Amino acid sequence: MGLRASSELVALSPLNAWWLTLAAAFLLSLMLQLLPPGLLPSNALFQDLIRYGKTKLEAPLRPAYFQSFDVPKRYFVHFYVISVLWNGFLLWCLTQSLFLGAPFPYWLHTVLRILGAAHFQGGELALSAFLVLVFLWLHSLRRLFECLYVSVFSNAMIHVVHYCFGIIYYILIGLTVLSQLPMDGRNVYVRGKNLFMQARWFHILGMMMFIWSSAHQYKCHVILGSLRKNKAGVVIHCKHRIPFGDWFEYVSSPNYLAELMIYISMSVTFGFHNFTWWLVVTYVFFSQALSALLTHRFYKSKFVSYPKHRKAFLPFLF
Ligand SMILES: NC(=O)c1ccc[n+]([C@@H]2O[C@H](COP(=O)([O-])OP(=O)(O)OC[C@H]3O[C@@H](n4cnc5c(N)ncnc54)[C@H](OP(=O)(O)O)[C@@H]3O)[C@@H](O)[C@H]2O)c1
Repeated sequence: MGLRASSELVALSPLNAWWLTLAAAFLLSLMLQLLPPGLLPSNALFQDLIRYGKTKLEAPLRPAYFQSFDVPKRYFVHFYVISVLWNGFLLWCLTQSLFLGAPFPYWLHTVLRILGAAHFQGGELALSAFLVLVFLWLHSLRRLFECLYVSVFSNAMIHVVHYCFGIIYYILIGLTVLSQLPMDGRNVYVRGKNLFMQARWFHILGMMMFIWSSAHQYKCHVILGSLRKNKAGVVIHCKHRIPFGDWFEYVSSPNYLAELMIYISMSVTFGFHNFTWWLVVTYVFFSQALSALLTHRFYKSKFVSYPKHRKAFLPFLF
């Protein structure tokens, strides 16, 4: 893996460069947040860009005109609509290619080449990328369901940059999966010719991890939703309360932890060695750790009775 990773760093594809830049940007933001309060840069724009939802409510020094860039956080649902449609389309193209021998559309093949797909020819099992795309699509579908029927949104906001980023993110993430496929021209190359003969132990492990993490993320979103409903399931307020139960007993943002586990499960499904996907995981790690840290601080400043043993993101550690 080390050799492969270093050779890919030398020929950094546009996709790898994108995920590496994102990971570095969120690492830097996280490190700045970990500085002692006196040393923390008080740049209002920086604070406005890294905070969203409830943590935006306590952003220091927020000029009034920043509100013109606010977009309702309930628009998160748009990300998942786009992801279900776009990644569903990519999955359909891949299925057609794998099972009916239909080549990828010319424009899609060109986009993948531009993004750096050629760097990965021959390396990956087609079944791994197929399963990861299925997981990604199922994840988006569940998140769409949660946004529509489980979560109760308040009037919390996100920055318009964040909104645009979310849309680009779900378009690029599916292309990242496809770019890992071994290609023979515009056709997917299936080593051994029979896709299911490629099944390996890490596919089973990845699938089990994916189901387990998804189930916990769903449970956590149900818990958050229930904080704003009465016993009959009717929404009674939109305030932020202290969540209890499931992984909330260990960390303040178990839904972010589950998100990380979901992306790690995809790395497992790729057989542990896919450098590009580890870059994606690194980005998810730092972005979710940053949000979890801000969320943890929000809870601690708002609730004096906040459980002392609870960590922000990683049980017992951070
Ligand atoms: N892969 C990525 O790059 C990425 C990026 C961002 C998010 N995500 C994932 O998307 C999911 C949702 O993210 P999120 O940031 O929206 O999560 P979140 O802040 O925990 O919010 C989830 C839902 O619970 C509500 N809520 C949050 N805290 C609450 C509290 N204390 N009391 C009552 N209700 C509360 C929120 O309402 P309001 O916020 O409207 O008040 C929202 O409806 C997460 O699983 C996250 O991992 C992924």
